[in-house]
Amino acid sequence: MKTIVVAILCCAFCATFVEAKTDVTKQPFGKMPDGTPIEIFTLSDGKVEARIMNFGGIIVSLKTPDRNGKMEDIVLGFDTAEEYVANSHNYYGAVIGRYANRIAHGTFTLEGKQHSLPKNNGENTLHGGPNGFYNVLWKAKQITNGIELTYFSKDGEQGFPGNLTATVRYTLEKGALRVEYSATTDQPTVVNMTQHSYFNLAGQSNGDILGHQLTLHASKFTPVDAGLIPTGEIKSVASTPFDFLKSARIGDRIEASDEQIKLGGGYDHNWVLDSSSGKLAEAAEVYEPTSGRVMKVSTTEPGIQFYSGNFLNGSTGKGGKPYPKRSALCLETQHYPDSPNHSAFPPTELKPGQKYDSVTVFSFSAR
Ligand code: GLA
Repeated sequence: MKTIVVAILCCAFCATFVEAKTDVTKQPFGKMPDGTPIEIFTLSDGKVEARIMNFGGIIVSLKTPDRNGKMEDIVLGFDTAEEYVANSHNYYGAVIGRYANRIAHGTFTLEGKQHSLPKNNGENTLHGGPNGFYNVLWKAKQITNGIELTYFSKDGEQGFPGNLTATVRYTLEKGALRVEYSATTDQPTVVNMTQHSYFNLAGQSNGDILGHQLTLHASKFTPVDAGLIPTGEIKSVASTPFDFLKSARIGDRIEASDEQIKLGGGYDHNWVLDSSSGKLAEAAEVYEPTSGRVMKVSTTEPGIQFYSGNFLNGSTGKGGKPYPKRSALCLETQHYPDSPNHSAFPPTELKPGQKYDSVTVFSFSAR
């Protein structure tokens, strides 16, 4: 009798466990300028809800509970796909590639061959150029707990060599949004992909991020020049406003009289993560004291760009609300900016026969 009761209870438990799957649904979400329909997917694990579209692989909304269970959308963006298409250079929520962040003077040499990229950030190429992965339509399909996006980037596209097949998988489980990037090429090329969500854990358009408390598991960072290109130096964060080894309020030192803070107009730098084994490890934690929301970022990447939204200029976003300077922050896991021009930085070259693999997990909770 006892065994039967235990068996029944056990089965009931297992059934609940197996059923606790993430719900994934698809809907139409506007059109590309040429009329191609854009799709949006809603992923919901009963705790967090993410809406992601196949244009730019963009996270359109991300709802997470505060310490009282109140759900709020914590990412900047627009209400319509058409606005995302028209304003893609804002990079709101988008997948970035082939090469995240800057490549100096839009040029690099690979295996003895020089390549020229279109410049879209003064003298430099930013986020893969004017038609980077954030500005293209991906093929999407549903997978367990999420979606898989695929994009075929032709040889020479945005100046990069090699036909590249890129895949991004977004899966949601137990309050954690996992982003898995992979790519293969038929010629030597460079790859550095990231996710460019702008977070405000108090809720999008709900004030600035100066009161957010940030931890970065990084003892070093890569100082930049006036064009935000790394100088090549790898500098200790000790006794600088870049020390976030212990949780610190973002606003505390953002106006410090520090040369690097001035060059960045605040924080817009790459931190060198202490864990650089290529294994998934915690890189950052953000805590927002009024809502209690916490976001942890884990990655296999060696670096993370902490950008404090210095270029946000009050332009209109979701619900007609303005997005002023520093009303959101980005934590972009990556290889260091401009690595193709710095042989001492971890390499970003991808050769035929190799596979680019990168994983980042954003986990949400409240306390
Ligand atoms: C990255 C860059 C910033 C800025 C934003 C987008 O974070 O490092 O300088 O270009 O993207 O505006």
